[in-house]
Amino acid sequence: MQRHLITSAIPYINGVKHLGNLIGSQLPADLYARYQRGRGNEVLFLCATDEHGTPAELAAAKAGQNISDYCKEMHEVQAKLAEGFCLSFDHFGRSSSQENHKLTQHFAGQLEAAGLIDEVRETQIYSHVDERFLPDRYIEGTCPECGFEDARGDQCDNCTKQLDPTDLINPRSSISGTSELERRETKHLYLCQSNMKKKLEDWIDGKTDWPILTTSIAKKWLNDGDGLQDRGITRDLDWGIPVKKGDNAWPGMEEKVFYVWFDAPIEYIACAQEWVNSGKGKHWESWWRTDQGADDVTYTQFMGKDNVPFHTLSFPATILGSGEPWKLVDYIKSFNYLNYDGGQFSTSRGRGVFMDDALDILPADYWRWWLLSHAPESSDAEFTWDNFQGSVNKDLADVLGNFVSRVTKFCRSKFGEEIPSGGDYGAAEHSLFENLTAQIRAYEKYMESIEIRKAASELRSIWALGNEYLQSSAPWSVYKEDEKKAAAQIRLALNLIRIYAILSRPFIPNAAEKLMTAMQCDDWSWPKNLEEALNKLMAGSEFIVPEVLFQKISDEECENWQSQFSGTRSKGD
Ligand code: MF3
Ligand code: ZN
Repeated sequence: MQRHLITSAIPYINGVKHLGNLIGSQLPADLYARYQRGRGNEVLFLCATDEHGTPAELAAAKAGQNISDYCKEMHEVQAKLAEGFCLSFDHFGRSSSQENHKLTQHFAGQLEAAGLIDEVRETQIYSHVDERFLPDRYIEGTCPECGFEDARGDQCDNCTKQLDPTDLINPRSSISGTSELERRETKHLYLCQSNMKKKLEDWIDGKTDWPILTTSIAKKWLNDGDGLQDRGITRDLDWGIPVKKGDNAWPGMEEKVFYVWFDAPIEYIACAQEWVNSGKGKHWESWWRTDQGADDVTYTQFMGKDNVPFHTLSFPATILGSGEPWKLVDYIKSFNYLNYDGGQFSTSRGRGVFMDDALDILPADYWRWWLLSHAPESSDAEFTWDNFQGSVNKDLADVLGNFVSRVTKFCRSKFGEEIPSGGDYGAAEHSLFENLTAQIRAYEKYMESIEIRKAASELRSIWALGNEYLQSSAPWSVYKEDEKKAAAQIRLALNLIRIYAILSRPFIPNAAEKLMTAMQCDDWSWPKNLEEALNKLMAGSEFIVPEVLFQKISDEECENWQSQFSGTRSKGD
C-alpha cells in the first residue's frame, strides 16, 4: 500500500472563492485524493484557510467585525462550501491555529540558529495616532500621476500605476485618516534565500518529471535579474503570528508579526497536527518527519501558477534551512487560470460564478465534471455557459445518465426485481472486455500522472463504450428470440454500472454513490481484473432503478444564468 500526502494551496480567508480558485487547487487535489483512496492507498489530504495578511485585516474592517471573529466565521463559511463541493479533506485547518503559531516560531528560531536570517534596517512610515508603522496599502493620498484622491500606497486604483507610499501627495493613514505621519527607522527580518540558491537549484533539477509550468516558473525566479532574492519575512500588523525565536522573545521585534507567506505553507504541517489534536488523526509525524516514517510518503501539492515560486523556492528554503528532517514535496501540480465568459474571474470586482452561487443553482457533480474536464492545465481555459450546458447535457445526461436509465428500466420491465440468470458471454462481450480493459489502464495512467483532462476524456469514452455495446448488442430485440442471451447482456450492463460508479467516483462522487446504491452493493474495490469485476453482481441479486441522474440544462436556464451572472456580485466579501 502506498502512502500519499496531498495538500491544496490554502485559500485566503477573505470571502467566498470563485470557480477559478476552486479548479486551481482544491478540486484537482480532491480528485487525486479520491483516486488514491479508490486504489486502496493510504491518503492524508489537508487544506486550511490562509488567515493572515493585509487583505484579511482590510476585509474584516470592511465587514465591521473584529478580525478574529471575522476569520472564525469565514472559516466556517468556506468549510461548508467545501463540504457542498464534496471536497474530502481529512482536515480543513486554519493558519491562525495555535499549532501554526508554535511551528512558525519554531522554524524562525531554527533558521536564525542556522545563520539564515538577517536583521535589516529600513525606513518606514509611522503613524503617531495609530501608534504603529503603516504597511504600504494602509497609506492613502493623491496619485501623482492622475490626481485620483484615494490612491493607495502600493498602487493607484484609478490609473493602475504602481506607487511607493512616499510618492503620494498629502498622504494619510487609511485606518484613522491622520496625516501626522513620519518616516522612521525600523528593523525587519530577511530570510537569506540567496545563500541557498545552489541547493534549491540542484533539488529542482532533480525533478525531471514535474510539469513544465512548475519548473519553468521556478527556474525563472532562480535566474531572473540578480537571481534568487532574500525575502522579508516580517510585517507591521496587529493580526498575525508574533515574531519569536521558538519560545523566546526576539529583541526589537516585539511589535511585529511574520509575513503571511512565511507562515501559510507551514500550516501544511501544522494542519496535520491540528488533525491529530482534533482527535481525528493519530500520528502526524509519520507523514511529515522523514526520521519517523515519512520517507515512504509521496507528497503532492496542488496550486495555481501564481503560487509556484512560494512552493518551489521559499517554502523549501524554510524546510531545508531548518536543518531538520521534514518531508519535502515530491510533485507539484500547478494550473493556469480559468477565465469567465470573455474576461477574468475577479474576487474584488465580484465577476464570475462563486462557490455559493454555483451550489444554489446546480448540484456539485455538474460543476465538478465541467471544471475538471476543462482544467486549465496546458493553457488558460474559459468558462462559458454554452460550453457548460454542452458538457453537462452530452457527457453526463446523454452518455452516462442515459446508459444507466436504459439498462435499469429495460431490465425491470422485462426481467423484474432481480438481476436475471442464464446465457453466456460471447465474442461481442469478450471484445468489450478487451477494449474496456485497455481504456481503464489508460485512465489509471492519466490519473497517476495527474493529467486531468486526458483522464476525463478517457472516462467519457469508457462511459460511451457502454452505450456502444448496448446499441450493437440490442438486448431489446435479442429478448424476443433468445431471452437467455438478453439476460446475459443485461447482467453485464448492470455490472458495468457498478464499474462506472467506482471509476467515476473521483469526478462525480454523489452520482457514483447513487449508482452503487442502485446496484444494491457496497463493494468499491478497484477493477484490477475486469472480467472478474464484471461478475460481481450475480443473478438473483436485487437492484433499484435510480431517479434521473443528471437533468439536462435547458436553453432558457442557460440564458437566464448567463444574464444573472453577467454583472457584479454584491454579496459576501
Ligand atoms: N492563500 C494563497 C492563495 O490563495 C495560497 C497560500 S498556499 C500556502 O493564493 F502555501 F501558503 F499555503
Ligand atoms: Zn493614478
